[in-house]
Amino acid sequence: MNLGRWESANCRQMLRWALIVFVVSALVGCGTLAPPVMQQAASTPVVPAEAVVDATATLPPTATSAPPTDTPMPAPTATPTTEPTVTPEPTSAPALSPIDRLVAVRDAENGAALFATFQDAANYSCSNCHLPDSEKTNLGPGLLNIKDRAATRVEGMSAAEYIYQSIVDSKAYTVEGFDPDLMPQNWAEIYSDLEIFDIVAYLMTLEGRSDINDPDPTPKDEESD
Ligand code: HEC
Repeated sequence: MNLGRWESANCRQMLRWALIVFVVSALVGCGTLAPPVMQQAASTPVVPAEAVVDATATLPPTATSAPPTDTPMPAPTATPTTEPTVTPEPTSAPALSPIDRLVAVRDAENGAALFATFQDAANYSCSNCHLPDSEKTNLGPGLLNIKDRAATRVEGMSAAEYIYQSIVDSKAYTVEGFDPDLMPQNWAEIYSDLEIFDIVAYLMTLEGRSDINDPDPTPKDEESD
């Protein structure tokens, strides 16, 4: 009886211990086994994938882009600096009047001959009153370098336009200090327009060293009077 009690009590206690051991071992086993499995599974697939993608993406571009950057860089900077040079020069040329254009293509040699030809209808030649190789007065003003003075006589008139007007309508502008009635008024009846343009072309060629306004007293002719 006593043994049976002990046996039953001992058996109960053994069962109790067995249950405790089982529960404890089960709890400890879950706690230790679960963490290592989860960490390994999560870390192994993510890290290698990112490392492979980054390595393959950064390596090829840097290797291929390095050589071409040397050649294209100087070309774009060199072309813009040369293009900015604008062309405003063609527009600076003044518009030529019809008289300017005509005189430019006329026969100055024929004009020189007409300049020296005596005309009965005028009772003069141009050269009777005008020196072609001097600025000194001979009844009329000397015509050496007349092109320069003619360009400044009347505002808005070109040199050729002024000289043409001086021949066909000399009273339209009178040179200071001269008699407006001295120069014959009938040259437009004596000479054709084209002949007058020849004379203007000739007068435009009369260029040389000034012999009245030259500050250098070079012995040329009698300077006084
Ligand atoms: C009888 C003299 C005389 C004759 C001939 C004469 N001129 Fe004149 N000419 C003058 C006088 C004087 C002037 C200045 C007064 C004036 O402006 O009208 C003058 C002015 C001029 C001027 C302006 C000069 C200036 O400095 O602005 C021109 C150009 C000119 N003559 C060209 C001619 C030509 C070309 C002929 C021939 C086709 C000619 N002359 C015949 C006396 C003459």
